[in-house]
Amino acid sequence: MINKDKNNTPVKLSSKHLLGIENLNSDEMLNLIERSDHFANLITKDSNQINTNNFSTILSGKTIINLFFESSTRTRVSFEVACKKLGGSVLNISVSGSSVKKGETLIDTATTLNAMNPDILVIRHHAAGAPLLLSKFIDASVINAGDGRHEHPTQALLDALTIKRRFGKIAGLNISICGDIANSRVARSNMYLLGSLGANLCLVSPSTLLPSKIENFGFPIFNDLEEGIHNADIVMMLRLQKERFQGKEIPSQHEYYNLFGLDNKKLKKSAPNALIMHPGPMNRGVEIDSITADDDERSLITTQVEMGVATRMACLEAIIQNRVL
Ligand code: CP
Repeated sequence: MINKDKNNTPVKLSSKHLLGIENLNSDEMLNLIERSDHFANLITKDSNQINTNNFSTILSGKTIINLFFESSTRTRVSFEVACKKLGGSVLNISVSGSSVKKGETLIDTATTLNAMNPDILVIRHHAAGAPLLLSKFIDASVINAGDGRHEHPTQALLDALTIKRRFGKIAGLNISICGDIANSRVARSNMYLLGSLGANLCLVSPSTLLPSKIENFGFPIFNDLEEGIHNADIVMMLRLQKERFQGKEIPSQHEYYNLFGLDNKKLKKSAPNALIMHPGPMNRGVEIDSITADDDERSLITTQVEMGVATRMACLEAIIQNRVL
């Protein structure tokens, strides 16, 4: 059941962890998006009313640890801001300055941090499944902030919130997810989330950047960008993740840009008022042209970052509520 009073009610999740969108049912997905929308409204209002605190203090006395084994700007900072807005304390562990550099294993690091009794461990790791593994060894709740090529659940939720606030709906929208799908945890989480919520998804990528068994998702696949974005309401571009390449996936960046980079000329193939999304960080001139990315009328990229705080507030609140009850 969807919460009747969803705007004023923290979301109830069936798990004490948030490991992936695949683990959520559609009510949990919808309720998290509605609650994120509520926080997004409050953040906007709060910025216009200095000295008012519209937020709950559900994280008061609680500690979250941001444990990032891969670099991050948006996700790490927005978890920190979200936690502080809800009254909690945040510790940021930089792997480069931690005992991981002396050879400590992931599980030893996590159990060491767990011994300090944090309430939530937010983890980003290059290995798919690392958050699930940790969740079996520690008492804290685990939130997946991106694991290898697997999932990035809070990114998909903030993407859905961005879409919902702009279009008033998700179901029935034509959304083209374009680029390096093989290496994208954002694409995978969005396939689960936007697909479950009734969007008409299609995938656009060179065949060398498609993961094996991708056809099992059942979405149409295009190897031509202009064909793939035909009539799209939203063109979601993905970063070319060269750090995860295992061979010669593309002949050259220049050629990739010519064929799969989004610019205003190619964008003409989409629906007339199609909007552009990108999870960031962007490789300008590789998967997207600067003029297209910075077009205030059509680009939702900055809004996506803004929605990250509200979404992570909803997720932290839901997880902590599960621990309080
Ligand atoms: N979208 C995203 O995960 O960005 P960061 O790597 O900056 O966190």
